Amino acid sequence: MTTVSARAGRRTGGRARLLLGAACAVAIAVSSVAVATLAHADLTGPPGTTLKAAAERSGRYFGAAMGGDRLNDAGFLTIANREFDMMTAVNEMKPDATEPNRGQFDFRAGDAIYNWAIQHGMKVRGHTLAWHAQQPRFWGSLSGSALRTAMIDHINGVMAHYKGKLYAWDVVNEAFAENGSRRSSNLQSTGNDWIEVAFRTARAADPGVRLCYNDYNIENWTYAKTQGVYNMIRDFKARGVPVDCVGLQTHFTGGSSLPGNFQQTLSSFAALGVDVALTEADVTNASASQYQGLTQACMNVPRCVGITTWGIRDSDSWRGNESPLLFDRNSNPKPAYTSVLNALNAASTTVPGTSTPPSTPTSTPPSTPTSTPPSTPPVTGQPGGCTATYHTASTWNGGYQGEVTVTNNGSATLNGWTVQLTLAGGQTIANVWNGVNTGTSGTVSVRNAAYNGSVGANASTSFGFLVNGSSSTAPGALSCTSP
Ligand code: XIL
Repeated sequence: MTTVSARAGRRTGGRARLLLGAACAVAIAVSSVAVATLAHADLTGPPGTTLKAAAERSGRYFGAAMGGDRLNDAGFLTIANREFDMMTAVNEMKPDATEPNRGQFDFRAGDAIYNWAIQHGMKVRGHTLAWHAQQPRFWGSLSGSALRTAMIDHINGVMAHYKGKLYAWDVVNEAFAENGSRRSSNLQSTGNDWIEVAFRTARAADPGVRLCYNDYNIENWTYAKTQGVYNMIRDFKARGVPVDCVGLQTHFTGGSSLPGNFQQTLSSFAALGVDVALTEADVTNASASQYQGLTQACMNVPRCVGITTWGIRDSDSWRGNESPLLFDRNSNPKPAYTSVLNALNAASTTVPGTSTPPSTPTSTPPSTPTSTPPSTPPVTGQPGGCTATYHTASTWNGGYQGEVTVTNNGSATLNGWTVQLTLAGGQTIANVWNGVNTGTSGTVSVRNAAYNGSVGANASTSFGFLVNGSSSTAPGALSCTSP
């Protein structure tokens, strides 16, 4: 498969945003509902029969984009409510929609989508604060420091309204050109630091929301634009510019297709210390194999937190003539739907920090096979009550995710366990779930969490951890003891 960078016709899709002619707009308060937390991962649970249930097994979400007109579309709302747990407004939170005139903010259209999503148990991604397109008309007559100030005021005004309510904001959208340099735009002309100013402003405006950079044609690792964005994120992380996530739009439409190295791109960004997400996925003719591949790439990268499709049915798509979505015009799931569902259910990595809830310790095996083979031979044979076996769930440039299974070989129930393992030089544990660690490098011990210390005869439990380091050499010298 190849990636073609041509984006011909990408702005020709029908524009569905609500027309709000208010000269003096009124902000309607959004419902005060706390931002939902990430799902609890449980890879041993039954396969999900909806996109969201399948994604939540691994602590991920499955999202869609909707325009305000879909709020009156019962067919759309039925599928949205059944299958999705994350929503993005197609146009209603963009700069032209939220601040049509200087200092006059209008959140009615954005709030309508926000409120519907929250009332139906979803989270919401904010899209977008600073972009070369869909700008307020008054930005067009500004330049230099006046435009810079208008951008800062816009970010502050919009983020104050949604403070504490969103899962993430696409702070800056599409700021790079195909050759990997900055896209020329009025915002770029205010100075090369405009992007970091936007992120610093955003962090101060709402310290609790994830701040994302979002772009298209950054899926192919060897493509110049991908490298340009990667270098900016690396620079931001090195200098402490607040960026938490990278959104890869994943439009495999308009001449683009799934590159074979997509997973490498995701894991390379993740290794910089950011979450990654597929934020606007659609695929020409809904190729089931490309949908399967893009989903699997995300499932293989622990910090790939979720997938959003840009619409639900082909009739919702900005590229409807390419029939690129998971549902047809009659609301029926297409073959690509099944390929995505299966790939979600086959996830073998979980999102860090989405701990597995306590489950009744039984010996029921996972109901879907996982495809990742152990990268090192299992370490077994420790004397005493328990055995620890290790496998690498996923590796990337700069780290890996490890999982240890603790098995009770005896006939009596274990009441607590401790695993010791030794990390290779230069490796540091960043995060442990389903266990409590002592130490983060060299010889590390991990004891059971409050809820998984009791392991019945011949049963097992597991914990996971994330390691940063120049190599992905697996830990050695595993041992397991129980009191
Ligand atoms: C698109 C909308 O779907 C259209 O309705 C609108 O006319 C143009 O914008 N990248 C983005 C999205 O970040 O905001 C774009 O959405 C699609 C490409």
